[in-house]
Amino acid sequence: MQAARRRPVPHTPIWFMRQAGRSLPEYRALRAGVGMLESCRRPDLVAEITMQPVRRHGVDAAIFFSDIVVPVAAVGLDIDIVAGVGPVVADPIRTWKDLERLPELTPQDIPDITESVRLLVAELGDTPLIGFAGAPFTLASYLVEGGPSRNHLLTKALMHGDPQLWNALCARLAQISATFLEVQIAAGASAVQLFDSWAGACSRADYERYVRPHSAAVLAAVGELGVPRIHFGVGTGELLASMAQAGADVVGVDYRVALPDAIARVGTSYAVQGNLDPALLFAPWEALERETRRIVAQGLSAPGHIFNLGHGVLPETDPDVLTRLVDLVHECSAR
Ligand code: CP3
Repeated sequence: MQAARRRPVPHTPIWFMRQAGRSLPEYRALRAGVGMLESCRRPDLVAEITMQPVRRHGVDAAIFFSDIVVPVAAVGLDIDIVAGVGPVVADPIRTWKDLERLPELTPQDIPDITESVRLLVAELGDTPLIGFAGAPFTLASYLVEGGPSRNHLLTKALMHGDPQLWNALCARLAQISATFLEVQIAAGASAVQLFDSWAGACSRADYERYVRPHSAAVLAAVGELGVPRIHFGVGTGELLASMAQAGADVVGVDYRVALPDAIARVGTSYAVQGNLDPALLFAPWEALERETRRIVAQGLSAPGHIFNLGHGVLPETDPDVLTRLVDLVHECSAR
């Protein structure tokens, strides 16, 4: 929390995107026979899965175990997370009539989220809980395409072909994501991360015109609650400054941009988060250590740095390497 607020820290803090989940055998055991979305709605499971990497690795923050599509499922949209595929929408949202199937989210739709966060905050003690939501563009891509997409063709066609409908869809998604975050904060989350994972598919002009206003609405709603806001996307080198201006306190940097370049692009008003290539976790320890020390040193020139990967932990990652990496970052960054 201190790093996010650009205040002095005893060492560079570290957590991992997707630290809860597929790389952990204890996660796979707990999830056996339970669907992904079902597991996200069971407070006992959510709390236990979120705690697993905190206990095992000694990371400086927990990331709430959920998924960006949980709130759209909670308003009644027929969506599932299919193993090995990702989110799949039975009947995609492409018309004004379709939009009627996506009502606003109210806290009453997600009492389980409140319960999960409360359980976690009690168990975590001093370790902060990071809540999260998907940003409107990334969510819209799943809803319009009907599932994961490489080129986001239908999404971009809608954005340019019917901007009014696009803006209405994204405004609704912004309401849904803002409420999802507000519920997590009200129950005790200390910070939030807004994932615009696929924003890097947009040009800067399109991003600023069709995407950022909706992310800014989510971040502004949360800003009133006073918790630090992290904003992250993949392949966003060209967008980093624009994304920061959406209203972030911390800009997430993927592994394709060197941290000093990212810091130069966003300016000195923001903390940064990142950005070790998750593939490096498969390299010999010496290579991983060299790269980690480099990133820690580079982060010192930002007003705040939270060490993380440049994207999520890959399922095949050896969890012991993650534990060793946490220790290394703590040791080599001790002030
Ligand atoms: O540890 C954490 O980071 C918290 C858990 C978390 C999950 N999803 C759990 C999950 C978080 C933060 C997310 C966010 C999320 N979900 C994003 C944004 C982050 C990113 O990766 O860029 C996106 C794009 C999604 C949508 C989604 N959900 C995808 C693309 C997939 C992968 C499908 C696959 O099988 O490869 C999911 C499923 C998902 N979400 C899993 C987990 C642990 C795997 C499901 C399983 O265990 O079977």
